Amino acid sequence: MGSIRLSNPKRNYNTKNCKENWFDYYAGYSPEFVEDTIKYLNLPSNSIILDPWNGIGTTTQVVEELGYRAIGYDINPVMVIVAKAKRIDYISLVNAEKESNELINKGKSYYLTDEHVQTDPLGVWLNPCSILPFRKLERAILEKNEIHDKKKLQVKNYENISNEVAFYYLALFKTIKELLSVFRSSNPTWVKRPKLASERINVNESIVYESFLNNISKMASSVDLESPNLINKKNNDIILSVSTSESLPLPNDSVDAIIASPPYCTRIDYAIATVLELALLGFSSDEYFSTLRNKMIGTPTISKEEIVVKNEWGKTANYFLKLVSEHESKASLSYYYKIYLQYFNSMYRSLKEINRVMKKGSHCVLVVQDSYYKDILIDLSAVFSEMVEEVSWKIENKISYHNKRTLASIHQGTKKYRKNSSVKETALIFQKKE
Ligand SMILES: C[S@@+](CC[C@H](N)C(=O)[O-])C[C@H]1O[C@@H](n2cnc3c(N)ncnc32)[C@H](O)[C@@H]1O
Repeated sequence: MGSIRLSNPKRNYNTKNCKENWFDYYAGYSPEFVEDTIKYLNLPSNSIILDPWNGIGTTTQVVEELGYRAIGYDINPVMVIVAKAKRIDYISLVNAEKESNELINKGKSYYLTDEHVQTDPLGVWLNPCSILPFRKLERAILEKNEIHDKKKLQVKNYENISNEVAFYYLALFKTIKELLSVFRSSNPTWVKRPKLASERINVNESIVYESFLNNISKMASSVDLESPNLINKKNNDIILSVSTSESLPLPNDSVDAIIASPPYCTRIDYAIATVLELALLGFSSDEYFSTLRNKMIGTPTISKEEIVVKNEWGKTANYFLKLVSEHESKASLSYYYKIYLQYFNSMYRSLKEINRVMKKGSHCVLVVQDSYYKDILIDLSAVFSEMVEEVSWKIENKISYHNKRTLASIHQGTKKYRKNSSVKETALIFQKKE
């Protein structure tokens, strides 16, 4: 195993590439890392690179910029919309401010009353009259797209919405988050829900339009319009869609490489982190939202599925589970043990599924982050390396990075068990055997 250098996957938040900052996201990795990895893999032109956990689309964006074919899936439709929005073309971006004024005027012309929003998912936080400007703007945005269900005012087909529509959706996401910022908490991935109807807030219609316009202007002006990446004609051979990594809508042996960072094992609730955006997309707190939340890998919710420990997960995962089950702290066995069982189970299923779609001899590059349960280290790099032995991949290279900033510090009680919250990130380069 020769030593190689790839840029640190830790995202640099001061990046000049400002599209990276269009959406506040804690889980993204750096475009520089993806670029170095693609160059290292040295793939023939026309190769297909897949990210089954595409998040805000860092992988697919770089893949496209370097002229390869990209496929990006994420289980969360919010992420698919963000990834698409970043692909907005030059002309649409230049015209965005003018266009958004037209969208506002169009929105204002729709006749919608409180009755139309009686069961609206946004009603958890907003009084009915304050929901109306959001739905009017949404309808105007969707009118730009041919494929939608006008009756329900929901984006039904995420794969087919245009990049431009996704861009305006993203502005609406930013608007709702900004205007409902009172429901944020000290944990950056948590959004509070009012318990009483009297705690729901009113937002003046004109404020919603003003914030929407302002967000469009900020996004448009943050991008260097001279950037060659923006002016280049966008490749249409790109798939961005919703899918679970446990069942990918791709044929066997069809992908030339995988570059991804799998969901963390840190009990961060990404469904709640995007609960406002999901409500805007029509996911209410009941059935739809809970189903999505339960299917997310790393979710802190416990599903009904009965899971048994498997030897195939490897000795590190099995030993870790044993330590958690025997830990003295309250809820270790009754709750946390089940959370980790789910994580390993879903991750193993995903790796098998990824293996199915990979061509023989192709590479899979995964960035994993170690974490802790109380004082017990979860050595994810070892867990993944052992799991993929079962699908007969070999490890070609392994690069470790030590980063200071982690989300571990947001979990109360972490400090009781560990003083040092720095964690190790590892880029694992695997190859599927010929
Ligand atoms: C660590 S993030 C990936 C970030 C990405 N590399 C980027 O730069 O934006 C993991 C992603 O996996 C997604 N995810 C969680 N469970 C999933 C599942 N079962 N199938 C597909 N995606 C899932 C989450 O929504 C999240 O966006």
